[in-house]
Amino acid sequence: MSQPLVLGIETSCDETAIGIVRGRTLLANVIASSVQEHARFGGVVPEIASRAHLEAMLPSLEQALKDARVNLGDIDAVAVTAGPGLVGALLVGVASASGLALGLGKPLYGINHLAAHVSVDLLSHSDPIEPTIALLVSGGHSSLLQVDDITSRVIKLGETMDDAAGEAFDKIARIMGLGFPGGPAIDKIARGANAQAIDFPRGLTQSSDWQTRPFDFSFSGVKTAVARYLEATPDYAQGDVAACFQEAIVDVLMQKALAACKKTGIDSLVIAGGVAANSRLRAVAQLRCEAAQVRLRIPEPGLCTDNGAMVAALGSLMVSAGRSPSPVGIDADSSMSVESLLVS
Ligand code: KG4
Ligand code: ZN
Repeated sequence: MSQPLVLGIETSCDETAIGIVRGRTLLANVIASSVQEHARFGGVVPEIASRAHLEAMLPSLEQALKDARVNLGDIDAVAVTAGPGLVGALLVGVASASGLALGLGKPLYGINHLAAHVSVDLLSHSDPIEPTIALLVSGGHSSLLQVDDITSRVIKLGETMDDAAGEAFDKIARIMGLGFPGGPAIDKIARGANAQAIDFPRGLTQSSDWQTRPFDFSFSGVKTAVARYLEATPDYAQGDVAACFQEAIVDVLMQKALAACKKTGIDSLVIAGGVAANSRLRAVAQLRCEAAQVRLRIPEPGLCTDNGAMVAALGSLMVSAGRSPSPVGIDADSSMSVESLLVS
C-alpha cells in the first residue's frame, strides 16, 4: 500500500498524542500534555501521567479524526509506541491501540519511540532518509545510531553513560529555578548571552576517550561543574551560565555526531528527539555540517518533542515496506532497545 492512512498513538511519557498521516502527509497532530501537573514535582510522576493518558485518550482521538477529516473506519493501520518509556503510561497507549485495531479489524504496529523520533523527518522531506547517522537526544535517551533502514535495521554506535542530554538540561534548569521542562527555558535565557564566559567540561572528549568511547556521551561532569559554579558564585549571570552549559552540551553532541559520519563514511545526519528543538544545537549543527559537507536534516521544532505524528510516520513506513504487523495482545516494553524497531 503506497499511501496508507495510519493512526499513531504516543503515550510513553507525559504527552497523550495522536497523529494521522496519509503516506507521508501529516493530516492531524493532537497533543494533550500533562506537563503542568508534573511541574511542581520537578519531573514526570508516572502515576499522574498514566491517569492523564486515560482521561485524554478519547477526546484526543476524536479531535484527531476531526482535524484529519476522516472516519475511524477509513484507517488502514494503527501504530503505537510500544517502548521505551514509563510502563504504566505505555500500557494506556498499547491497550487503546490494540482495542482499536481489533475493533476495526486493522493491523497493529507496536513500534519503537526512538526510531519514531528519527522517522518524523520524513514528513518534511520526501527523499529517503537512509543511510544516515542519527543523533537522538531526548529527555530519556542520548544515542548515536547508524540507520541503514528505519523499518528494519538500526545499529547503535554509542549512547550516554549517565544522564540523557535533555535530562541534563532539566536538572540544571531545576537548580537555577527555571521550572520544568528545563530545555526550552535554558534555550530562551541563553539567547544573546555570552557563551564563552565560562569553560565547562566536555565529557568523553579526551584523546583516550576518542580511542575507547568515541561515540558515547557523559553529561554528569558538566552537570556537576555547573552546580559547583552556581554554588561558588552567588551573583552569577543566569544567561551566561545557561549559554555556557548549553554550548558545552551542543559542542560534544556535534563533535561525536560528525565523528560518527566520518568513521562510517555516511555523509548524512538526522538530529531528532526533544533536544533537537534547541536553537543553538540547530545553528551549530548547520554550520558544522556545512563545513564537513554532511547533509543535515532536523525536523521542525514542533515535531522534535514527543508527538503522535512520528508514531504514525513510522507506522506508515512499516506498512509501505510490507513489514508484518505485530501480534494481537502485545505488551508494552519499557526498556525496548533502540535496535528493536517493531514488536513481532
Ligand atoms: O523527546 P522528548 O519530548 O521526550 C522524551 O522522549 O524524553 O524530549 C524531552 C526533552 C526534555 O528533557 C526537554 O527539556 C528537552 O527535550 N527539550 C529541550 C528543548 N525542548 C525540549 N532541550 C533543549 N532545548 C530545547 N529547546
Ligand atoms: Zn521522546
